[in-house]
Amino acid sequence: MKAIFLIIAVGLMQAACDPLSDKPGEIHSDEKTGHIAYGGRLFDMWYDEVEIDFVPDDPETPLADGRGGPNGDGTLNDSAGLPLLNNGHSYRFKNLFGWDMRGDAGIYGHEYQAKDFILPDGPLSPQDAGMTRDEWVQRITAGKGGLPAYSDVLNPSQIEALVDYMLAVRDGSLPHPDSLYALSVDSPKGFVLMPGGDPALGHKFYEAQCAECHGDDATKIIFDNGEQTLGMHARYYGYAIAMITLVGEPGSDMGPQLAPDLSVEEQTTTLLNLLAALCDRTRYPRGNATDPELPDGDPRCGAYLR
Ligand code: HEC
Repeated sequence: MKAIFLIIAVGLMQAACDPLSDKPGEIHSDEKTGHIAYGGRLFDMWYDEVEIDFVPDDPETPLADGRGGPNGDGTLNDSAGLPLLNNGHSYRFKNLFGWDMRGDAGIYGHEYQAKDFILPDGPLSPQDAGMTRDEWVQRITAGKGGLPAYSDVLNPSQIEALVDYMLAVRDGSLPHPDSLYALSVDSPKGFVLMPGGDPALGHKFYEAQCAECHGDDATKIIFDNGEQTLGMHARYYGYAIAMITLVGEPGSDMGPQLAPDLSVEEQTTTLLNLLAALCDRTRYPRGNATDPELPDGDPRCGAYLR
């Protein structure tokens, strides 16, 4: 099965490199995959993905000084219609709920990355386990507590895509955080990758699917302000890299990277193989990036660290 998938992946990559195809790297074909992946990119950074002029209020300054949104100043409103200032979440769902959608009990919660802006709960929290799709659509639309009312900036079908993505992770039709990493108070950034990934298969997947844009050693694109290569980014924040690989990078040419017909188990295995591979500091080095490399013994990559 894995071998078959690799052949498919290579074929898809060749199709993606075809100069006639108008969206390089965009390999999903089926509508459902596209809808859910779109929801995943909205989860990551909705204002990079939708047609909107929105610059979030700068959290470092006391006044609302962004652009766009219901108040014209880069704020969104709460459920009562009052502006919610940006305290660092920048109105991104991945910040409000955390990448693992568990709110304060998860990776951005007080025990792990301790982000001030994390909400108490999210779609994967036990206390929200019984919430239906309609209830989530309603909560995102109207806001609740520190969660803004998104109906001012997202239309109903965008909110549905977002909710369908989150519930696909919750209900096991997309890779679940627990199958990719474990939370750990002893690890920088609060996580350790799950064992079982095969770095050799991960290198092959990388070559077939990522090297075209990110370069053979993943140093071709350097993120943020020159801080990190893709290899470093995966070693620092593997939990995010898995989901970005799955759904694509908001507002960029990079679409979803897994073949759309994979089962959830195959998706999980492919992501773990990739993360295991990217833990090789020699093969995917720091290049000209400015952030420090992970030291020997750093627990995030577990036994994958090379
Ligand atoms: C069609 C070209 C293309 C392909 C194929 C591609 N990427 Fe990307 N990727 C990009 C671009 C462009 C960006 C945005 C760079 C930026 O923000 O400066 C990006 C961003 C990313 C990011 C986000 C980094 C951040 O800022 O958080 C990750 C992670 C990533 N890519 C991983 C991968 C992986 C893993 C693969 C292969 C499975 C892959 N990419 C394949 C073009 C591509």
